[in-house]
Amino acid sequence: MEALLEEVQRVGYVNKPVADNIDLVAEIKRLKKEKNAVILAHYYVDGSIQDLADYIGDSLGLSQQAAATPADMIVFCGVHFMGETAKVLSPHKKVVIPDLNAGCSLADSAPADKFAAFKAQYPDHIVLSYINCSAEIKALSDIIVTSSNALKIVESLPQDQKIIFAPDANLGRYISKKTGRDMVLWDGACIVHIDISLEKLQKLRAEHPDAKFVAHPECQEHILMHADYIGSTTALLKYVVDSPEQTFIVGTEAGILHKMRQAAPHKNIIPAPASANNTCACSECPYMKMNTLEKLYNCMLYEQPEIIVPEDVRVKAEASVLRMLELSKNL
Ligand code: 13P
Ligand code: SF4
Repeated sequence: MEALLEEVQRVGYVNKPVADNIDLVAEIKRLKKEKNAVILAHYYVDGSIQDLADYIGDSLGLSQQAAATPADMIVFCGVHFMGETAKVLSPHKKVVIPDLNAGCSLADSAPADKFAAFKAQYPDHIVLSYINCSAEIKALSDIIVTSSNALKIVESLPQDQKIIFAPDANLGRYISKKTGRDMVLWDGACIVHIDISLEKLQKLRAEHPDAKFVAHPECQEHILMHADYIGSTTALLKYVVDSPEQTFIVGTEAGILHKMRQAAPHKNIIPAPASANNTCACSECPYMKMNTLEKLYNCMLYEQPEIIVPEDVRVKAEASVLRMLELSKNL
């Protein structure tokens, strides 16, 4: 066991070969029952993992599930901050993720020491942090928000309340514009959403003049200004399914197209084009794509890598996440 833990620390996941004759889907389902585990997955992970999950959702839905699950073990297929949030909310449960290397450019953009110094410059401001941040940043925050509740939470604050918004400057600018609130922004960004190419998008729209363009608020302002609808991943999915329109260009990570196409099989759903620098024609999050069936299987079998959050950090982070869950009850 010690050797396994050392290796997991070194490479970030259980690096054991999986025999060719193993039916990974059947084995993962068996382990789920045997260990009373729940698999929570974000829409951006590979479709094969989404199809195995007990719950697929956006960051708000996933944290609500993590807080309420009766399972003994939470297997989080997403990125590190999501597993951490689950542990913050369910400290007595074992929380595992397939690969510790699955980080997030937004979370990485805000190191705790630099953020604490930044915050100290604005002593009369409260800190609203997007859930895409580390547990340390959550511990330094007053309220956590996600893309599905940020507008409502900001609107619920007194007009004269001064606000720091971190770490996503694009989401912060979008909220600021929608609510008319001036906020101090931390300058972080999502590498995936800022890579959508306006030039290619305009070409694609010319090829599909009837298409509705839907976008996630992590996109840059010059992309969002062309959107017919802006929302969280769950909101984008709902819009595409419920809309009477037939063709959609989707400005977010391409993993969501799996659910959209399952839920609206007769609609034409096209990923928004990424810049020429991207390896694929669409927008893919390299961190989300670190979740593979093999790593998921090994993670459930060996119950590693496990997410551990120091208790002093956890308690403070929990307060800001619980404030969000409380404020989101009637959304
Ligand atoms: P939501 O699913 O909450 O919209 O967040 C998108 C995202 O970038 C998660 O990393
Ligand atoms: Fe982070 Fe962007 Fe990947 Fe979401 S899509 S996990 S915000 S890098």
